[in-house]
Amino acid sequence: QDLEGFILGLPKAELHLHIEGSLEPEQMFEFARRNGVALPFASVEEVRAAYAFSNLQDFLDIYYQGARVLLTRQDFHDLAMAYFRRVAADGARHAEIFFDPQTHTERGVPFDVVADGLLAAMDQAQAELGVTSKLILCFLRHLSEDDAFATLNHADPYLDRIVGVGLDSSEVGHPPSKFEKVFAAARARGLKVVAHAGEEGPPAYVYEALDLLEVDRIDHGNRALEDAALTQRLVLEGMTLTVCPLSNLKLCVVDDLAAHPIRRMLQLGLRATVNSDDPAYFGGYLGQNWVETAKAVGLTRDELVTLARNSFTGSFLTDDEIAAHL
Ligand code: HPA
Ligand code: ZN
Repeated sequence: QDLEGFILGLPKAELHLHIEGSLEPEQMFEFARRNGVALPFASVEEVRAAYAFSNLQDFLDIYYQGARVLLTRQDFHDLAMAYFRRVAADGARHAEIFFDPQTHTERGVPFDVVADGLLAAMDQAQAELGVTSKLILCFLRHLSEDDAFATLNHADPYLDRIVGVGLDSSEVGHPPSKFEKVFAAARARGLKVVAHAGEEGPPAYVYEALDLLEVDRIDHGNRALEDAALTQRLVLEGMTLTVCPLSNLKLCVVDDLAAHPIRRMLQLGLRATVNSDDPAYFGGYLGQNWVETAKAVGLTRDELVTLARNSFTGSFLTDDEIAAHL
């Protein structure tokens, strides 16, 4: 069996996906048209040409701009359904998706509009595609902790449908310690907690995510490898890292996909997973991340099976839910 067929046939889960980052340029134009939103681009080609990033902030500027076309419950529903169809075709059985409510509430789009649209798509994806999913609310770390608290309060009526909270946006200068109190409040509500750490930020931010936020997973985590003691701790704790190879390439976290540390992570005993992050912006959905990375770094079939297993053991599915997928 060829590599691509082998990968697509492996049951797997996606654990690091920003739903706003699945907004394809074609959809951006469609939503802009139906909502009467002006776009600073004349064509799909012009949009794609703008997707040349030299760091995380370059990307975030255009990602937040793109999100301005998302206004109605239908937009959020259609956005998520398009994602679920893509990832189902890649052999995913489960996805844990991030959403950034502050990106929308700041523009006057109510929290409920966003959440109701996404949740309706999640139900439809399970019924029509057999893809299960869980929803993770991310706080924007460039905003204040008070703002994050207000967002957590907005989410209160939805807590039975939100599995956890995360931390995303501009990392450097906004360490996990800034959000210690709101993460404690989230944990007190029984939510799982994850945080982006070590994508551009130093190993110290990964320590803070572990010690101050008490995270259940680290999103990215690449720079933890600079610290041998930290790496060893992540191995011993069985901490899942949600690694995003094509994102790392596009945001210049790595210079070349062949130099990506995913294979080294597995060899060190880290519980790494492969994910797409913002597939519409970074050039590939889940399957393409797996295939291109496997080719570039020479992942063995055993290593691919390990990655697939890690995607379930690192998920927030119960053992029974995992068993039902395998
Ligand atoms: N890092 C930080 N914030 C983000 C990302 C990311 O990769 N994608 C969307 N928001
Ligand atoms: Zn991310």
